[in-house]
Amino acid sequence: MRITLSVIKADVGGYVGHSAVHPQLVETIKEFVGEEVKKGILIDADVLVCGDDTAIVMTHTHGVDSEIVHGIAWRAFEKATEVAKKLKLYGAGQDLLSTAFSGNVKGMGPGVAEMEFEERPSEPVIVFFADKTAPSAWNLPLYEMFADPMVCAGLVIDPKMHDGFTFEVLDTYTGKAVKLSTPSELYELLALIGTVERYAIRSVWRNNDGEIAAVASTQRLSLIAGKYVGKDDPVMVVRAQAGFPAVGEILEPFARPWIVEGWMRGSHNGPLMPVSFKNATPTRFDGPPRVIAAGYQIAEGKLIGPRDLFDDPAFDKAREQAQLMADMLRRQGIFEPHRLPSEEMEYTTLPKILKKLEERFYELEAPRKAVEDPVEKHDID
Ligand code: F6R
Ligand code: MG
Ligand code: MG
Repeated sequence: MRITLSVIKADVGGYVGHSAVHPQLVETIKEFVGEEVKKGILIDADVLVCGDDTAIVMTHTHGVDSEIVHGIAWRAFEKATEVAKKLKLYGAGQDLLSTAFSGNVKGMGPGVAEMEFEERPSEPVIVFFADKTAPSAWNLPLYEMFADPMVCAGLVIDPKMHDGFTFEVLDTYTGKAVKLSTPSELYELLALIGTVERYAIRSVWRNNDGEIAAVASTQRLSLIAGKYVGKDDPVMVVRAQAGFPAVGEILEPFARPWIVEGWMRGSHNGPLMPVSFKNATPTRFDGPPRVIAAGYQIAEGKLIGPRDLFDDPAFDKAREQAQLMADMLRRQGIFEPHRLPSEEMEYTTLPKILKKLEERFYELEAPRKAVEDPVEKHDID
């Protein structure tokens, strides 16, 4: 059976502030998509929450980029926005950047990760969902899951994975993408995806047979809206087992927290803390950024689950480490490298402050000469 798994997420109102989603919003969305399942338009649907964001997980046979499916998600978020407005929740409807749906939610605010595949005899998938960070937060773990044999033993041990995986990398500034095949182009891949403010992995494919392995939402809200409207709080879907990384290999990168962009006002670096569903509520300095992992078995398109995969003592140490990293970064206060570099602040409200001071700057020293081009300066054989 060929099915599509679509995850569409949005922040349509926070409770309290930007820390969580009110249960009435979740109920409203659940009821709405439940009706579509009853009508047979969707095979199944589930709703996940991380921080102030809600993700609708849907299975169906309409393929990716389906107007029907995107329309369902859009209307569900509109309904939830009505409730959010009534309760005067914070930032009601904030991610619905347009007043009318025009066939596809892409570029309209919500984040989307969807993939179409032939359901295997057993189809384990994991939906990752993060709050207070950006899509490039997935760059490091996707590299480790699909290209680092020190994390994914299957790359060495499972013959189906020996040919490696191809990564589709999006330049979020130009909208252009490039496909890089690993292991042969591993260093080119890393050269790009280490630049987290610009490049984000969009999808991963198995080289052996071209099967889709992972897909991530890569929308950059600030670039869409042209002003700061929050970080993009991404989702990602990863297929597991039998020729894909095992569930444990997929979760392993999260056992060692790393630094991502986001946190307070989307303007700080901070650790990504793996948490249970219950603890996916950013508080300290609006964070630290959090990620949940929802595991499903798919059976004839039905979503069996979710299992709350980070609700496990094996991730307690990662949480502890993340808090230590948070302490260290918080010590920097408003200073870099805790606060993001100025180029990254361009899409926040900081330019307004700089504008205010523009007229008051006067010449104190001769301007610095343009930096010499290091490539021209040194003889390179
Ligand atoms: C970050 C985030 C929060 C807000 C912060 C200020 O993604 O959502 O950290 O940026 O709480 O929010 P406003 O500007 O709405 O008062
Ligand atoms: Mg928010
Ligand atoms: Mg959020």
